[in-house]
Amino acid sequence: MRTPRLDARPPVCKSSTMTSKPEHLVAAGYDEVADAYLERFGVSAVRQKWVGRLVDSLPAGGGRVLDLGCGAGIPVARDLAALGHAVMGVDGSTQQILRAGRNVPLATFIQADMCDVQFEAGSFHAVAAFYSITHVPAVQQGPLILKIARWLKPGGVLVGSFGTGAPGEWIGEWLGTTMFFGHNGEAETLKYLSDAGLIVRNSSIERQDNEEASFLWIEVTKEA
Ligand SMILES: C[S@@+](CC[C@H](N)C(=O)[O-])C[C@H]1O[C@@H](n2cnc3c(N)ncnc32)[C@H](O)[C@@H]1O
Repeated sequence: MRTPRLDARPPVCKSSTMTSKPEHLVAAGYDEVADAYLERFGVSAVRQKWVGRLVDSLPAGGGRVLDLGCGAGIPVARDLAALGHAVMGVDGSTQQILRAGRNVPLATFIQADMCDVQFEAGSFHAVAAFYSITHVPAVQQGPLILKIARWLKPGGVLVGSFGTGAPGEWIGEWLGTTMFFGHNGEAETLKYLSDAGLIVRNSSIERQDNEEASFLWIEVTKEA
């Protein structure tokens, strides 16, 4: 239950935890459950299929890839680095970044909020965002997509997962910690992508193979 279908959940909990900023809550939560997350969700055939699409889009000689919300670097940063791509992983959690650096010494990792981090325009051949933007407040997801589009080279590709179901935000107990989730409706997410100049190559709502959850998966490309 990584990204609950918000239409099947209670509305946002106005508990004391809501006084924390969502990004602090998420980072602190993953600091607590970094190992439990990897053990529970480290393998997914669905994610692997979309990683394959990202790999197919990269230059054979090696591309520059940004892994947003890279977690412990397994499997995405690890697999891309092993194929000779230059991977930059970004994560807000200290513990995830520590693990990523240990697990994938060939990649570069920085601890930062993906909404605040800055890169030059046209820095990356591809951006991966697997199960991570679903932790960003809904209202910040459109502006984040605009930034991602700017960071991509012309012809570059974004592959990632977004939330499904009724839009909203949810905070509560998850994997033994307190976690924040948020998303827009599918049509709104697709409009943000299109408004950012990203053209859809593939998109589908898919059920996870390792949990009771569905995501909107997208592979989009920036006009060459
Ligand atoms: C569900 S895990 C996904 C990890 C990995 N991408 C995977 O495929 O398993 C979400 C990760 O995104 C990170 N994350 C969530 N919101 C973030 C934000 N605003 N800035 C940076 N990292 C964030 C979390 O710390 C966590 O490591």
